[in-house]
Amino acid sequence: MEGFERESILLSDGKTALSLYHYITLDSTNAEAKRRGAAECAVILSDGQTAGRGRLGRDFYSEGGIYLSVILPAKGLLLSPMLLTSAAAVAVCRALEGAGLDGRIKWVNDILLDGRKLCGILAEAVSTGDGITGYVIGIGVNIGSTELPKELSDIATAVFLSEEGKRELAYEIVRRLMETIEMSPEDILAYCTAKSTVLGRRVRFFGAKNGVGLAVGLSPEGGLIVEADGGETVILTGGEISLRPE
Ligand code: BTN
Repeated sequence: MEGFERESILLSDGKTALSLYHYITLDSTNAEAKRRGAAECAVILSDGQTAGRGRLGRDFYSEGGIYLSVILPAKGLLLSPMLLTSAAAVAVCRALEGAGLDGRIKWVNDILLDGRKLCGILAEAVSTGDGITGYVIGIGVNIGSTELPKELSDIATAVFLSEEGKRELAYEIVRRLMETIEMSPEDILAYCTAKSTVLGRRVRFFGAKNGVGLAVGLSPEGGLIVEADGGETVILTGGEISLRPE
């Protein structure tokens, strides 16, 4: 796919610059990132997506917001891949804090603002014949330059930002992500715990296991620990949860 401008993001160390490929439109920034392979650390950013993807094979509404994917080669990645989604959630919340916004993490890949979804995260592995060569961290943030479709407006929200503010937030998310993947797993999980909108609440869980219970903590791998009704303690590592259990 052609039609990008090459930009450069200076990271928080003030020395390292990451290449950013800025498109007006793409099918999906994650798809483009995967087509490029994971030879170098880089960012794909697009103003819109025609086939934005969410978790569990869902579509992701992709008009007017921030759509970006960070490519992380496996070589040199210190953080466990299991914690990449949590690290991205931390990065988004820290970037939002800088803009005066209190994002909350809905395990494992949603960021909520005032109880509604502002941002979704989709981490995917990049594989070749040689196995996994890297990871793509896709992040989509709803920005309110256009109205959300009716079917989304009850569950999703958007922030209002100028074009300049939007670009700054996108760059800040990338900077924060590159910082966060260097943090210790303990610090990442402590931040996720502090910013969780799930812990201490009853949830319904779907996936490999189904049920209802109290979310009580995060496992060292970023799984959600639930004391299920009936007494079993379940560690969720995939699937999804609902905050409306009944
Ligand atoms: C979800 O809500 O289930 C995850 C949504 C992830 C959306 C982002 S937008 C940028 C990147 N490209 C995609 O196609 N998806 C991710």
